[in-house]
Amino acid sequence: MTSLANIFQGIENSALRIRDAVTNEDTDYSAKSNQSGEIQLKLDILSDLIIAEEFSKLPEVKSIASEEKEEEEVLHEDGEFLIAYDPLDGSSLINVNLSVGSIFGIYRGGWSAEKMVASVYVVYGPRTEMVTAYKKQVRHYIYRHGRFKELEQIKLGKRGTLNAPGGTQQNWTKKHKAMVDGLFSDGYRLRYSGGMVPDLHHILLKGGGLFSYPATSDKPLGKLRKLFEVFPFAFVYEMAGGEAIDENGGRLLELPCSDPHETSPCFFGSEYEIGLVKDVYGAN
Ligand code: AHG
Repeated sequence: MTSLANIFQGIENSALRIRDAVTNEDTDYSAKSNQSGEIQLKLDILSDLIIAEEFSKLPEVKSIASEEKEEEEVLHEDGEFLIAYDPLDGSSLINVNLSVGSIFGIYRGGWSAEKMVASVYVVYGPRTEMVTAYKKQVRHYIYRHGRFKELEQIKLGKRGTLNAPGGTQQNWTKKHKAMVDGLFSDGYRLRYSGGMVPDLHHILLKGGGLFSYPATSDKPLGKLRKLFEVFPFAFVYEMAGGEAIDENGGRLLELPCSDPHETSPCFFGSEYEIGLVKDVYGAN
């Protein structure tokens, strides 16, 4: 197996262990909080440990950075790849039994977006699915009868029907609210669970739409973290034929990242909806 195939296999192994933990363990809070100040669930910590343990078996993984840890951790000095991950995104949704996910960005030669070589996410819902973006292909797998079975590749249409607007409405800017209202007036349907993984997966599988997490009055730099959430999904959306931009209309994948826990306002979608964002935000 190639080095990257080993990493994908390590992610599959982690995913099955995390899926079991989500199904069987309780959702108590721990006594700890993460770098972003959020109190961690015991499940966040367990998922983080599972992934670190699986990657520590792979000599190709030089170093890992987790949303749940303050610092990057070197696993194998001679390894080729750096992996940033959010072990259990949306974990506050587990006790209401909504879908959650794990997100991975795989880099070679540095923690900047242009060094990303592949990205992967896993959805833990009624079914467990995995999506990999690598070499211009977005592959979709479903766990069935003891193995991940490959389905059709994912491709976004030029224009979709779904609207997933993140953040608290009262903290949106006027222009953002006008844009979201405009999409609804145009017939777009609201699809927002509050879990980035299932919400972006939904848009990808239904052919297109817009997911936005803008700058808000309470979070002027957005909420979602570049390294653990924004860059991996930008990579998936671009490879699926969509676009992923910030509020200035620039590609998310060209943004600098000086701290692993840095955030950015972000917009992911198909060509038509991203064009609208650029018009509204004055980037066209
Ligand atoms: P958390 O991991 O703290 O539950 O946060 C989830 C993230 C992301 O998955 C989702 O897109 C976003 O927060 C939702 O935030 P809002 O509730 O502010 O829209």
